[in-house]
Amino acid sequence: MRAFLLVVVLLATIPTFSHADSIPNQIHSLRPHTAGGGHHIPGVNCLSWRLGVEANNIRDWAMVPQQCEEYVGHYMLGHQYRDDCIAVAISAVQYAKNATLAHDGKDIWVFDIEETTLSNLPYYARSDVAFGATAYNATKFDAWVSEGTAPAVPGGVRLYRTLVSLGIKPVFLSGTKQQFRKVRIANLKKTGYSHWEKLILKGANDTRTAVEYKSKKRTELVKKGYRIIGNIGDQWSDLLGDNAGARTFKLPDPMYYIA
Ligand SMILES: *[C@@H]1O[C@H](CO)[C@@H](O)[C@H](O)[C@H]1NC(C)=O
Ligand SMILES: *[C@@H]1O[C@H](CO)[C@@H](O)[C@H](O)[C@H]1NC(C)=O
Ligand SMILES: *[C@@H]1O[C@H](CO)[C@@H](O)[C@H](O)[C@H]1NC(C)=O
Repeated sequence: MRAFLLVVVLLATIPTFSHADSIPNQIHSLRPHTAGGGHHIPGVNCLSWRLGVEANNIRDWAMVPQQCEEYVGHYMLGHQYRDDCIAVAISAVQYAKNATLAHDGKDIWVFDIEETTLSNLPYYARSDVAFGATAYNATKFDAWVSEGTAPAVPGGVRLYRTLVSLGIKPVFLSGTKQQFRKVRIANLKKTGYSHWEKLILKGANDTRTAVEYKSKKRTELVKKGYRIIGNIGDQWSDLLGDNAGARTFKLPDPMYYIA
């Protein structure tokens, strides 16, 4: 409920910018501007925080700063998040179309799943969860995953289909636990990701960090002769470490941080 209210409030407060002197989301050095992306709150500029997160300057954060919960909600539920995701997908498609391939069945693309392939936004947008301190509750989150109703991340299916048409095989490499294998597979298929070379999930008792776990799994793939043409994820821990891929693509995610 709160999620929809946020959207309504946001839409209602966006002025229509029809004049050149009223440019939204720009830096106004002479005329401090509060209606732009900055969402001015003393001490915390939420757009600066989000940029710091996306650029991997701000690390190891446990939760969205309290002052930015609403800002993150607006961002995630509004058009900007969708546009940002689609821009990443377009860039990845352009790169893939021009990549040099061997066409020997060993060209692969590594996809993370959560917030890269499937979106948990409906979970985070729920009124009792929202985007703040109470956002992640393992019990509730596992129940959501078990529903198997996660939609695709914007642009994700388009990228997936293009890669398949080019002969690049998808490999899903996720920190999601093995116990969700069946429901995640059903969810992937329902959403438009119909097949893959491998789907690698994390063992129930695997306590390695995401960087360690994913580096190891990618190295195993490379040792089997696969070439990682591209690698896409919403966390830097998807994209750092060993055998990260010939190119990496970072999707936005100001909701949570995984090391
Ligand atoms: C396409 O690939 C070629 C050779 O790898 C490279 O020289 C060129 O800059 C690439 N073009 C684009 C648009 O990426
Ligand atoms: C997580 O959610 C469950 C189910 O609603 C609840 O019983 C539990 O207290 C919550 N845990 C925390 C740490 O909030
Ligand atoms: C994980 O550890 C628990 C407790 O030691 C054990 O009962 C369980 O079988 C283990 N699960 C797997 C998949 O190894």
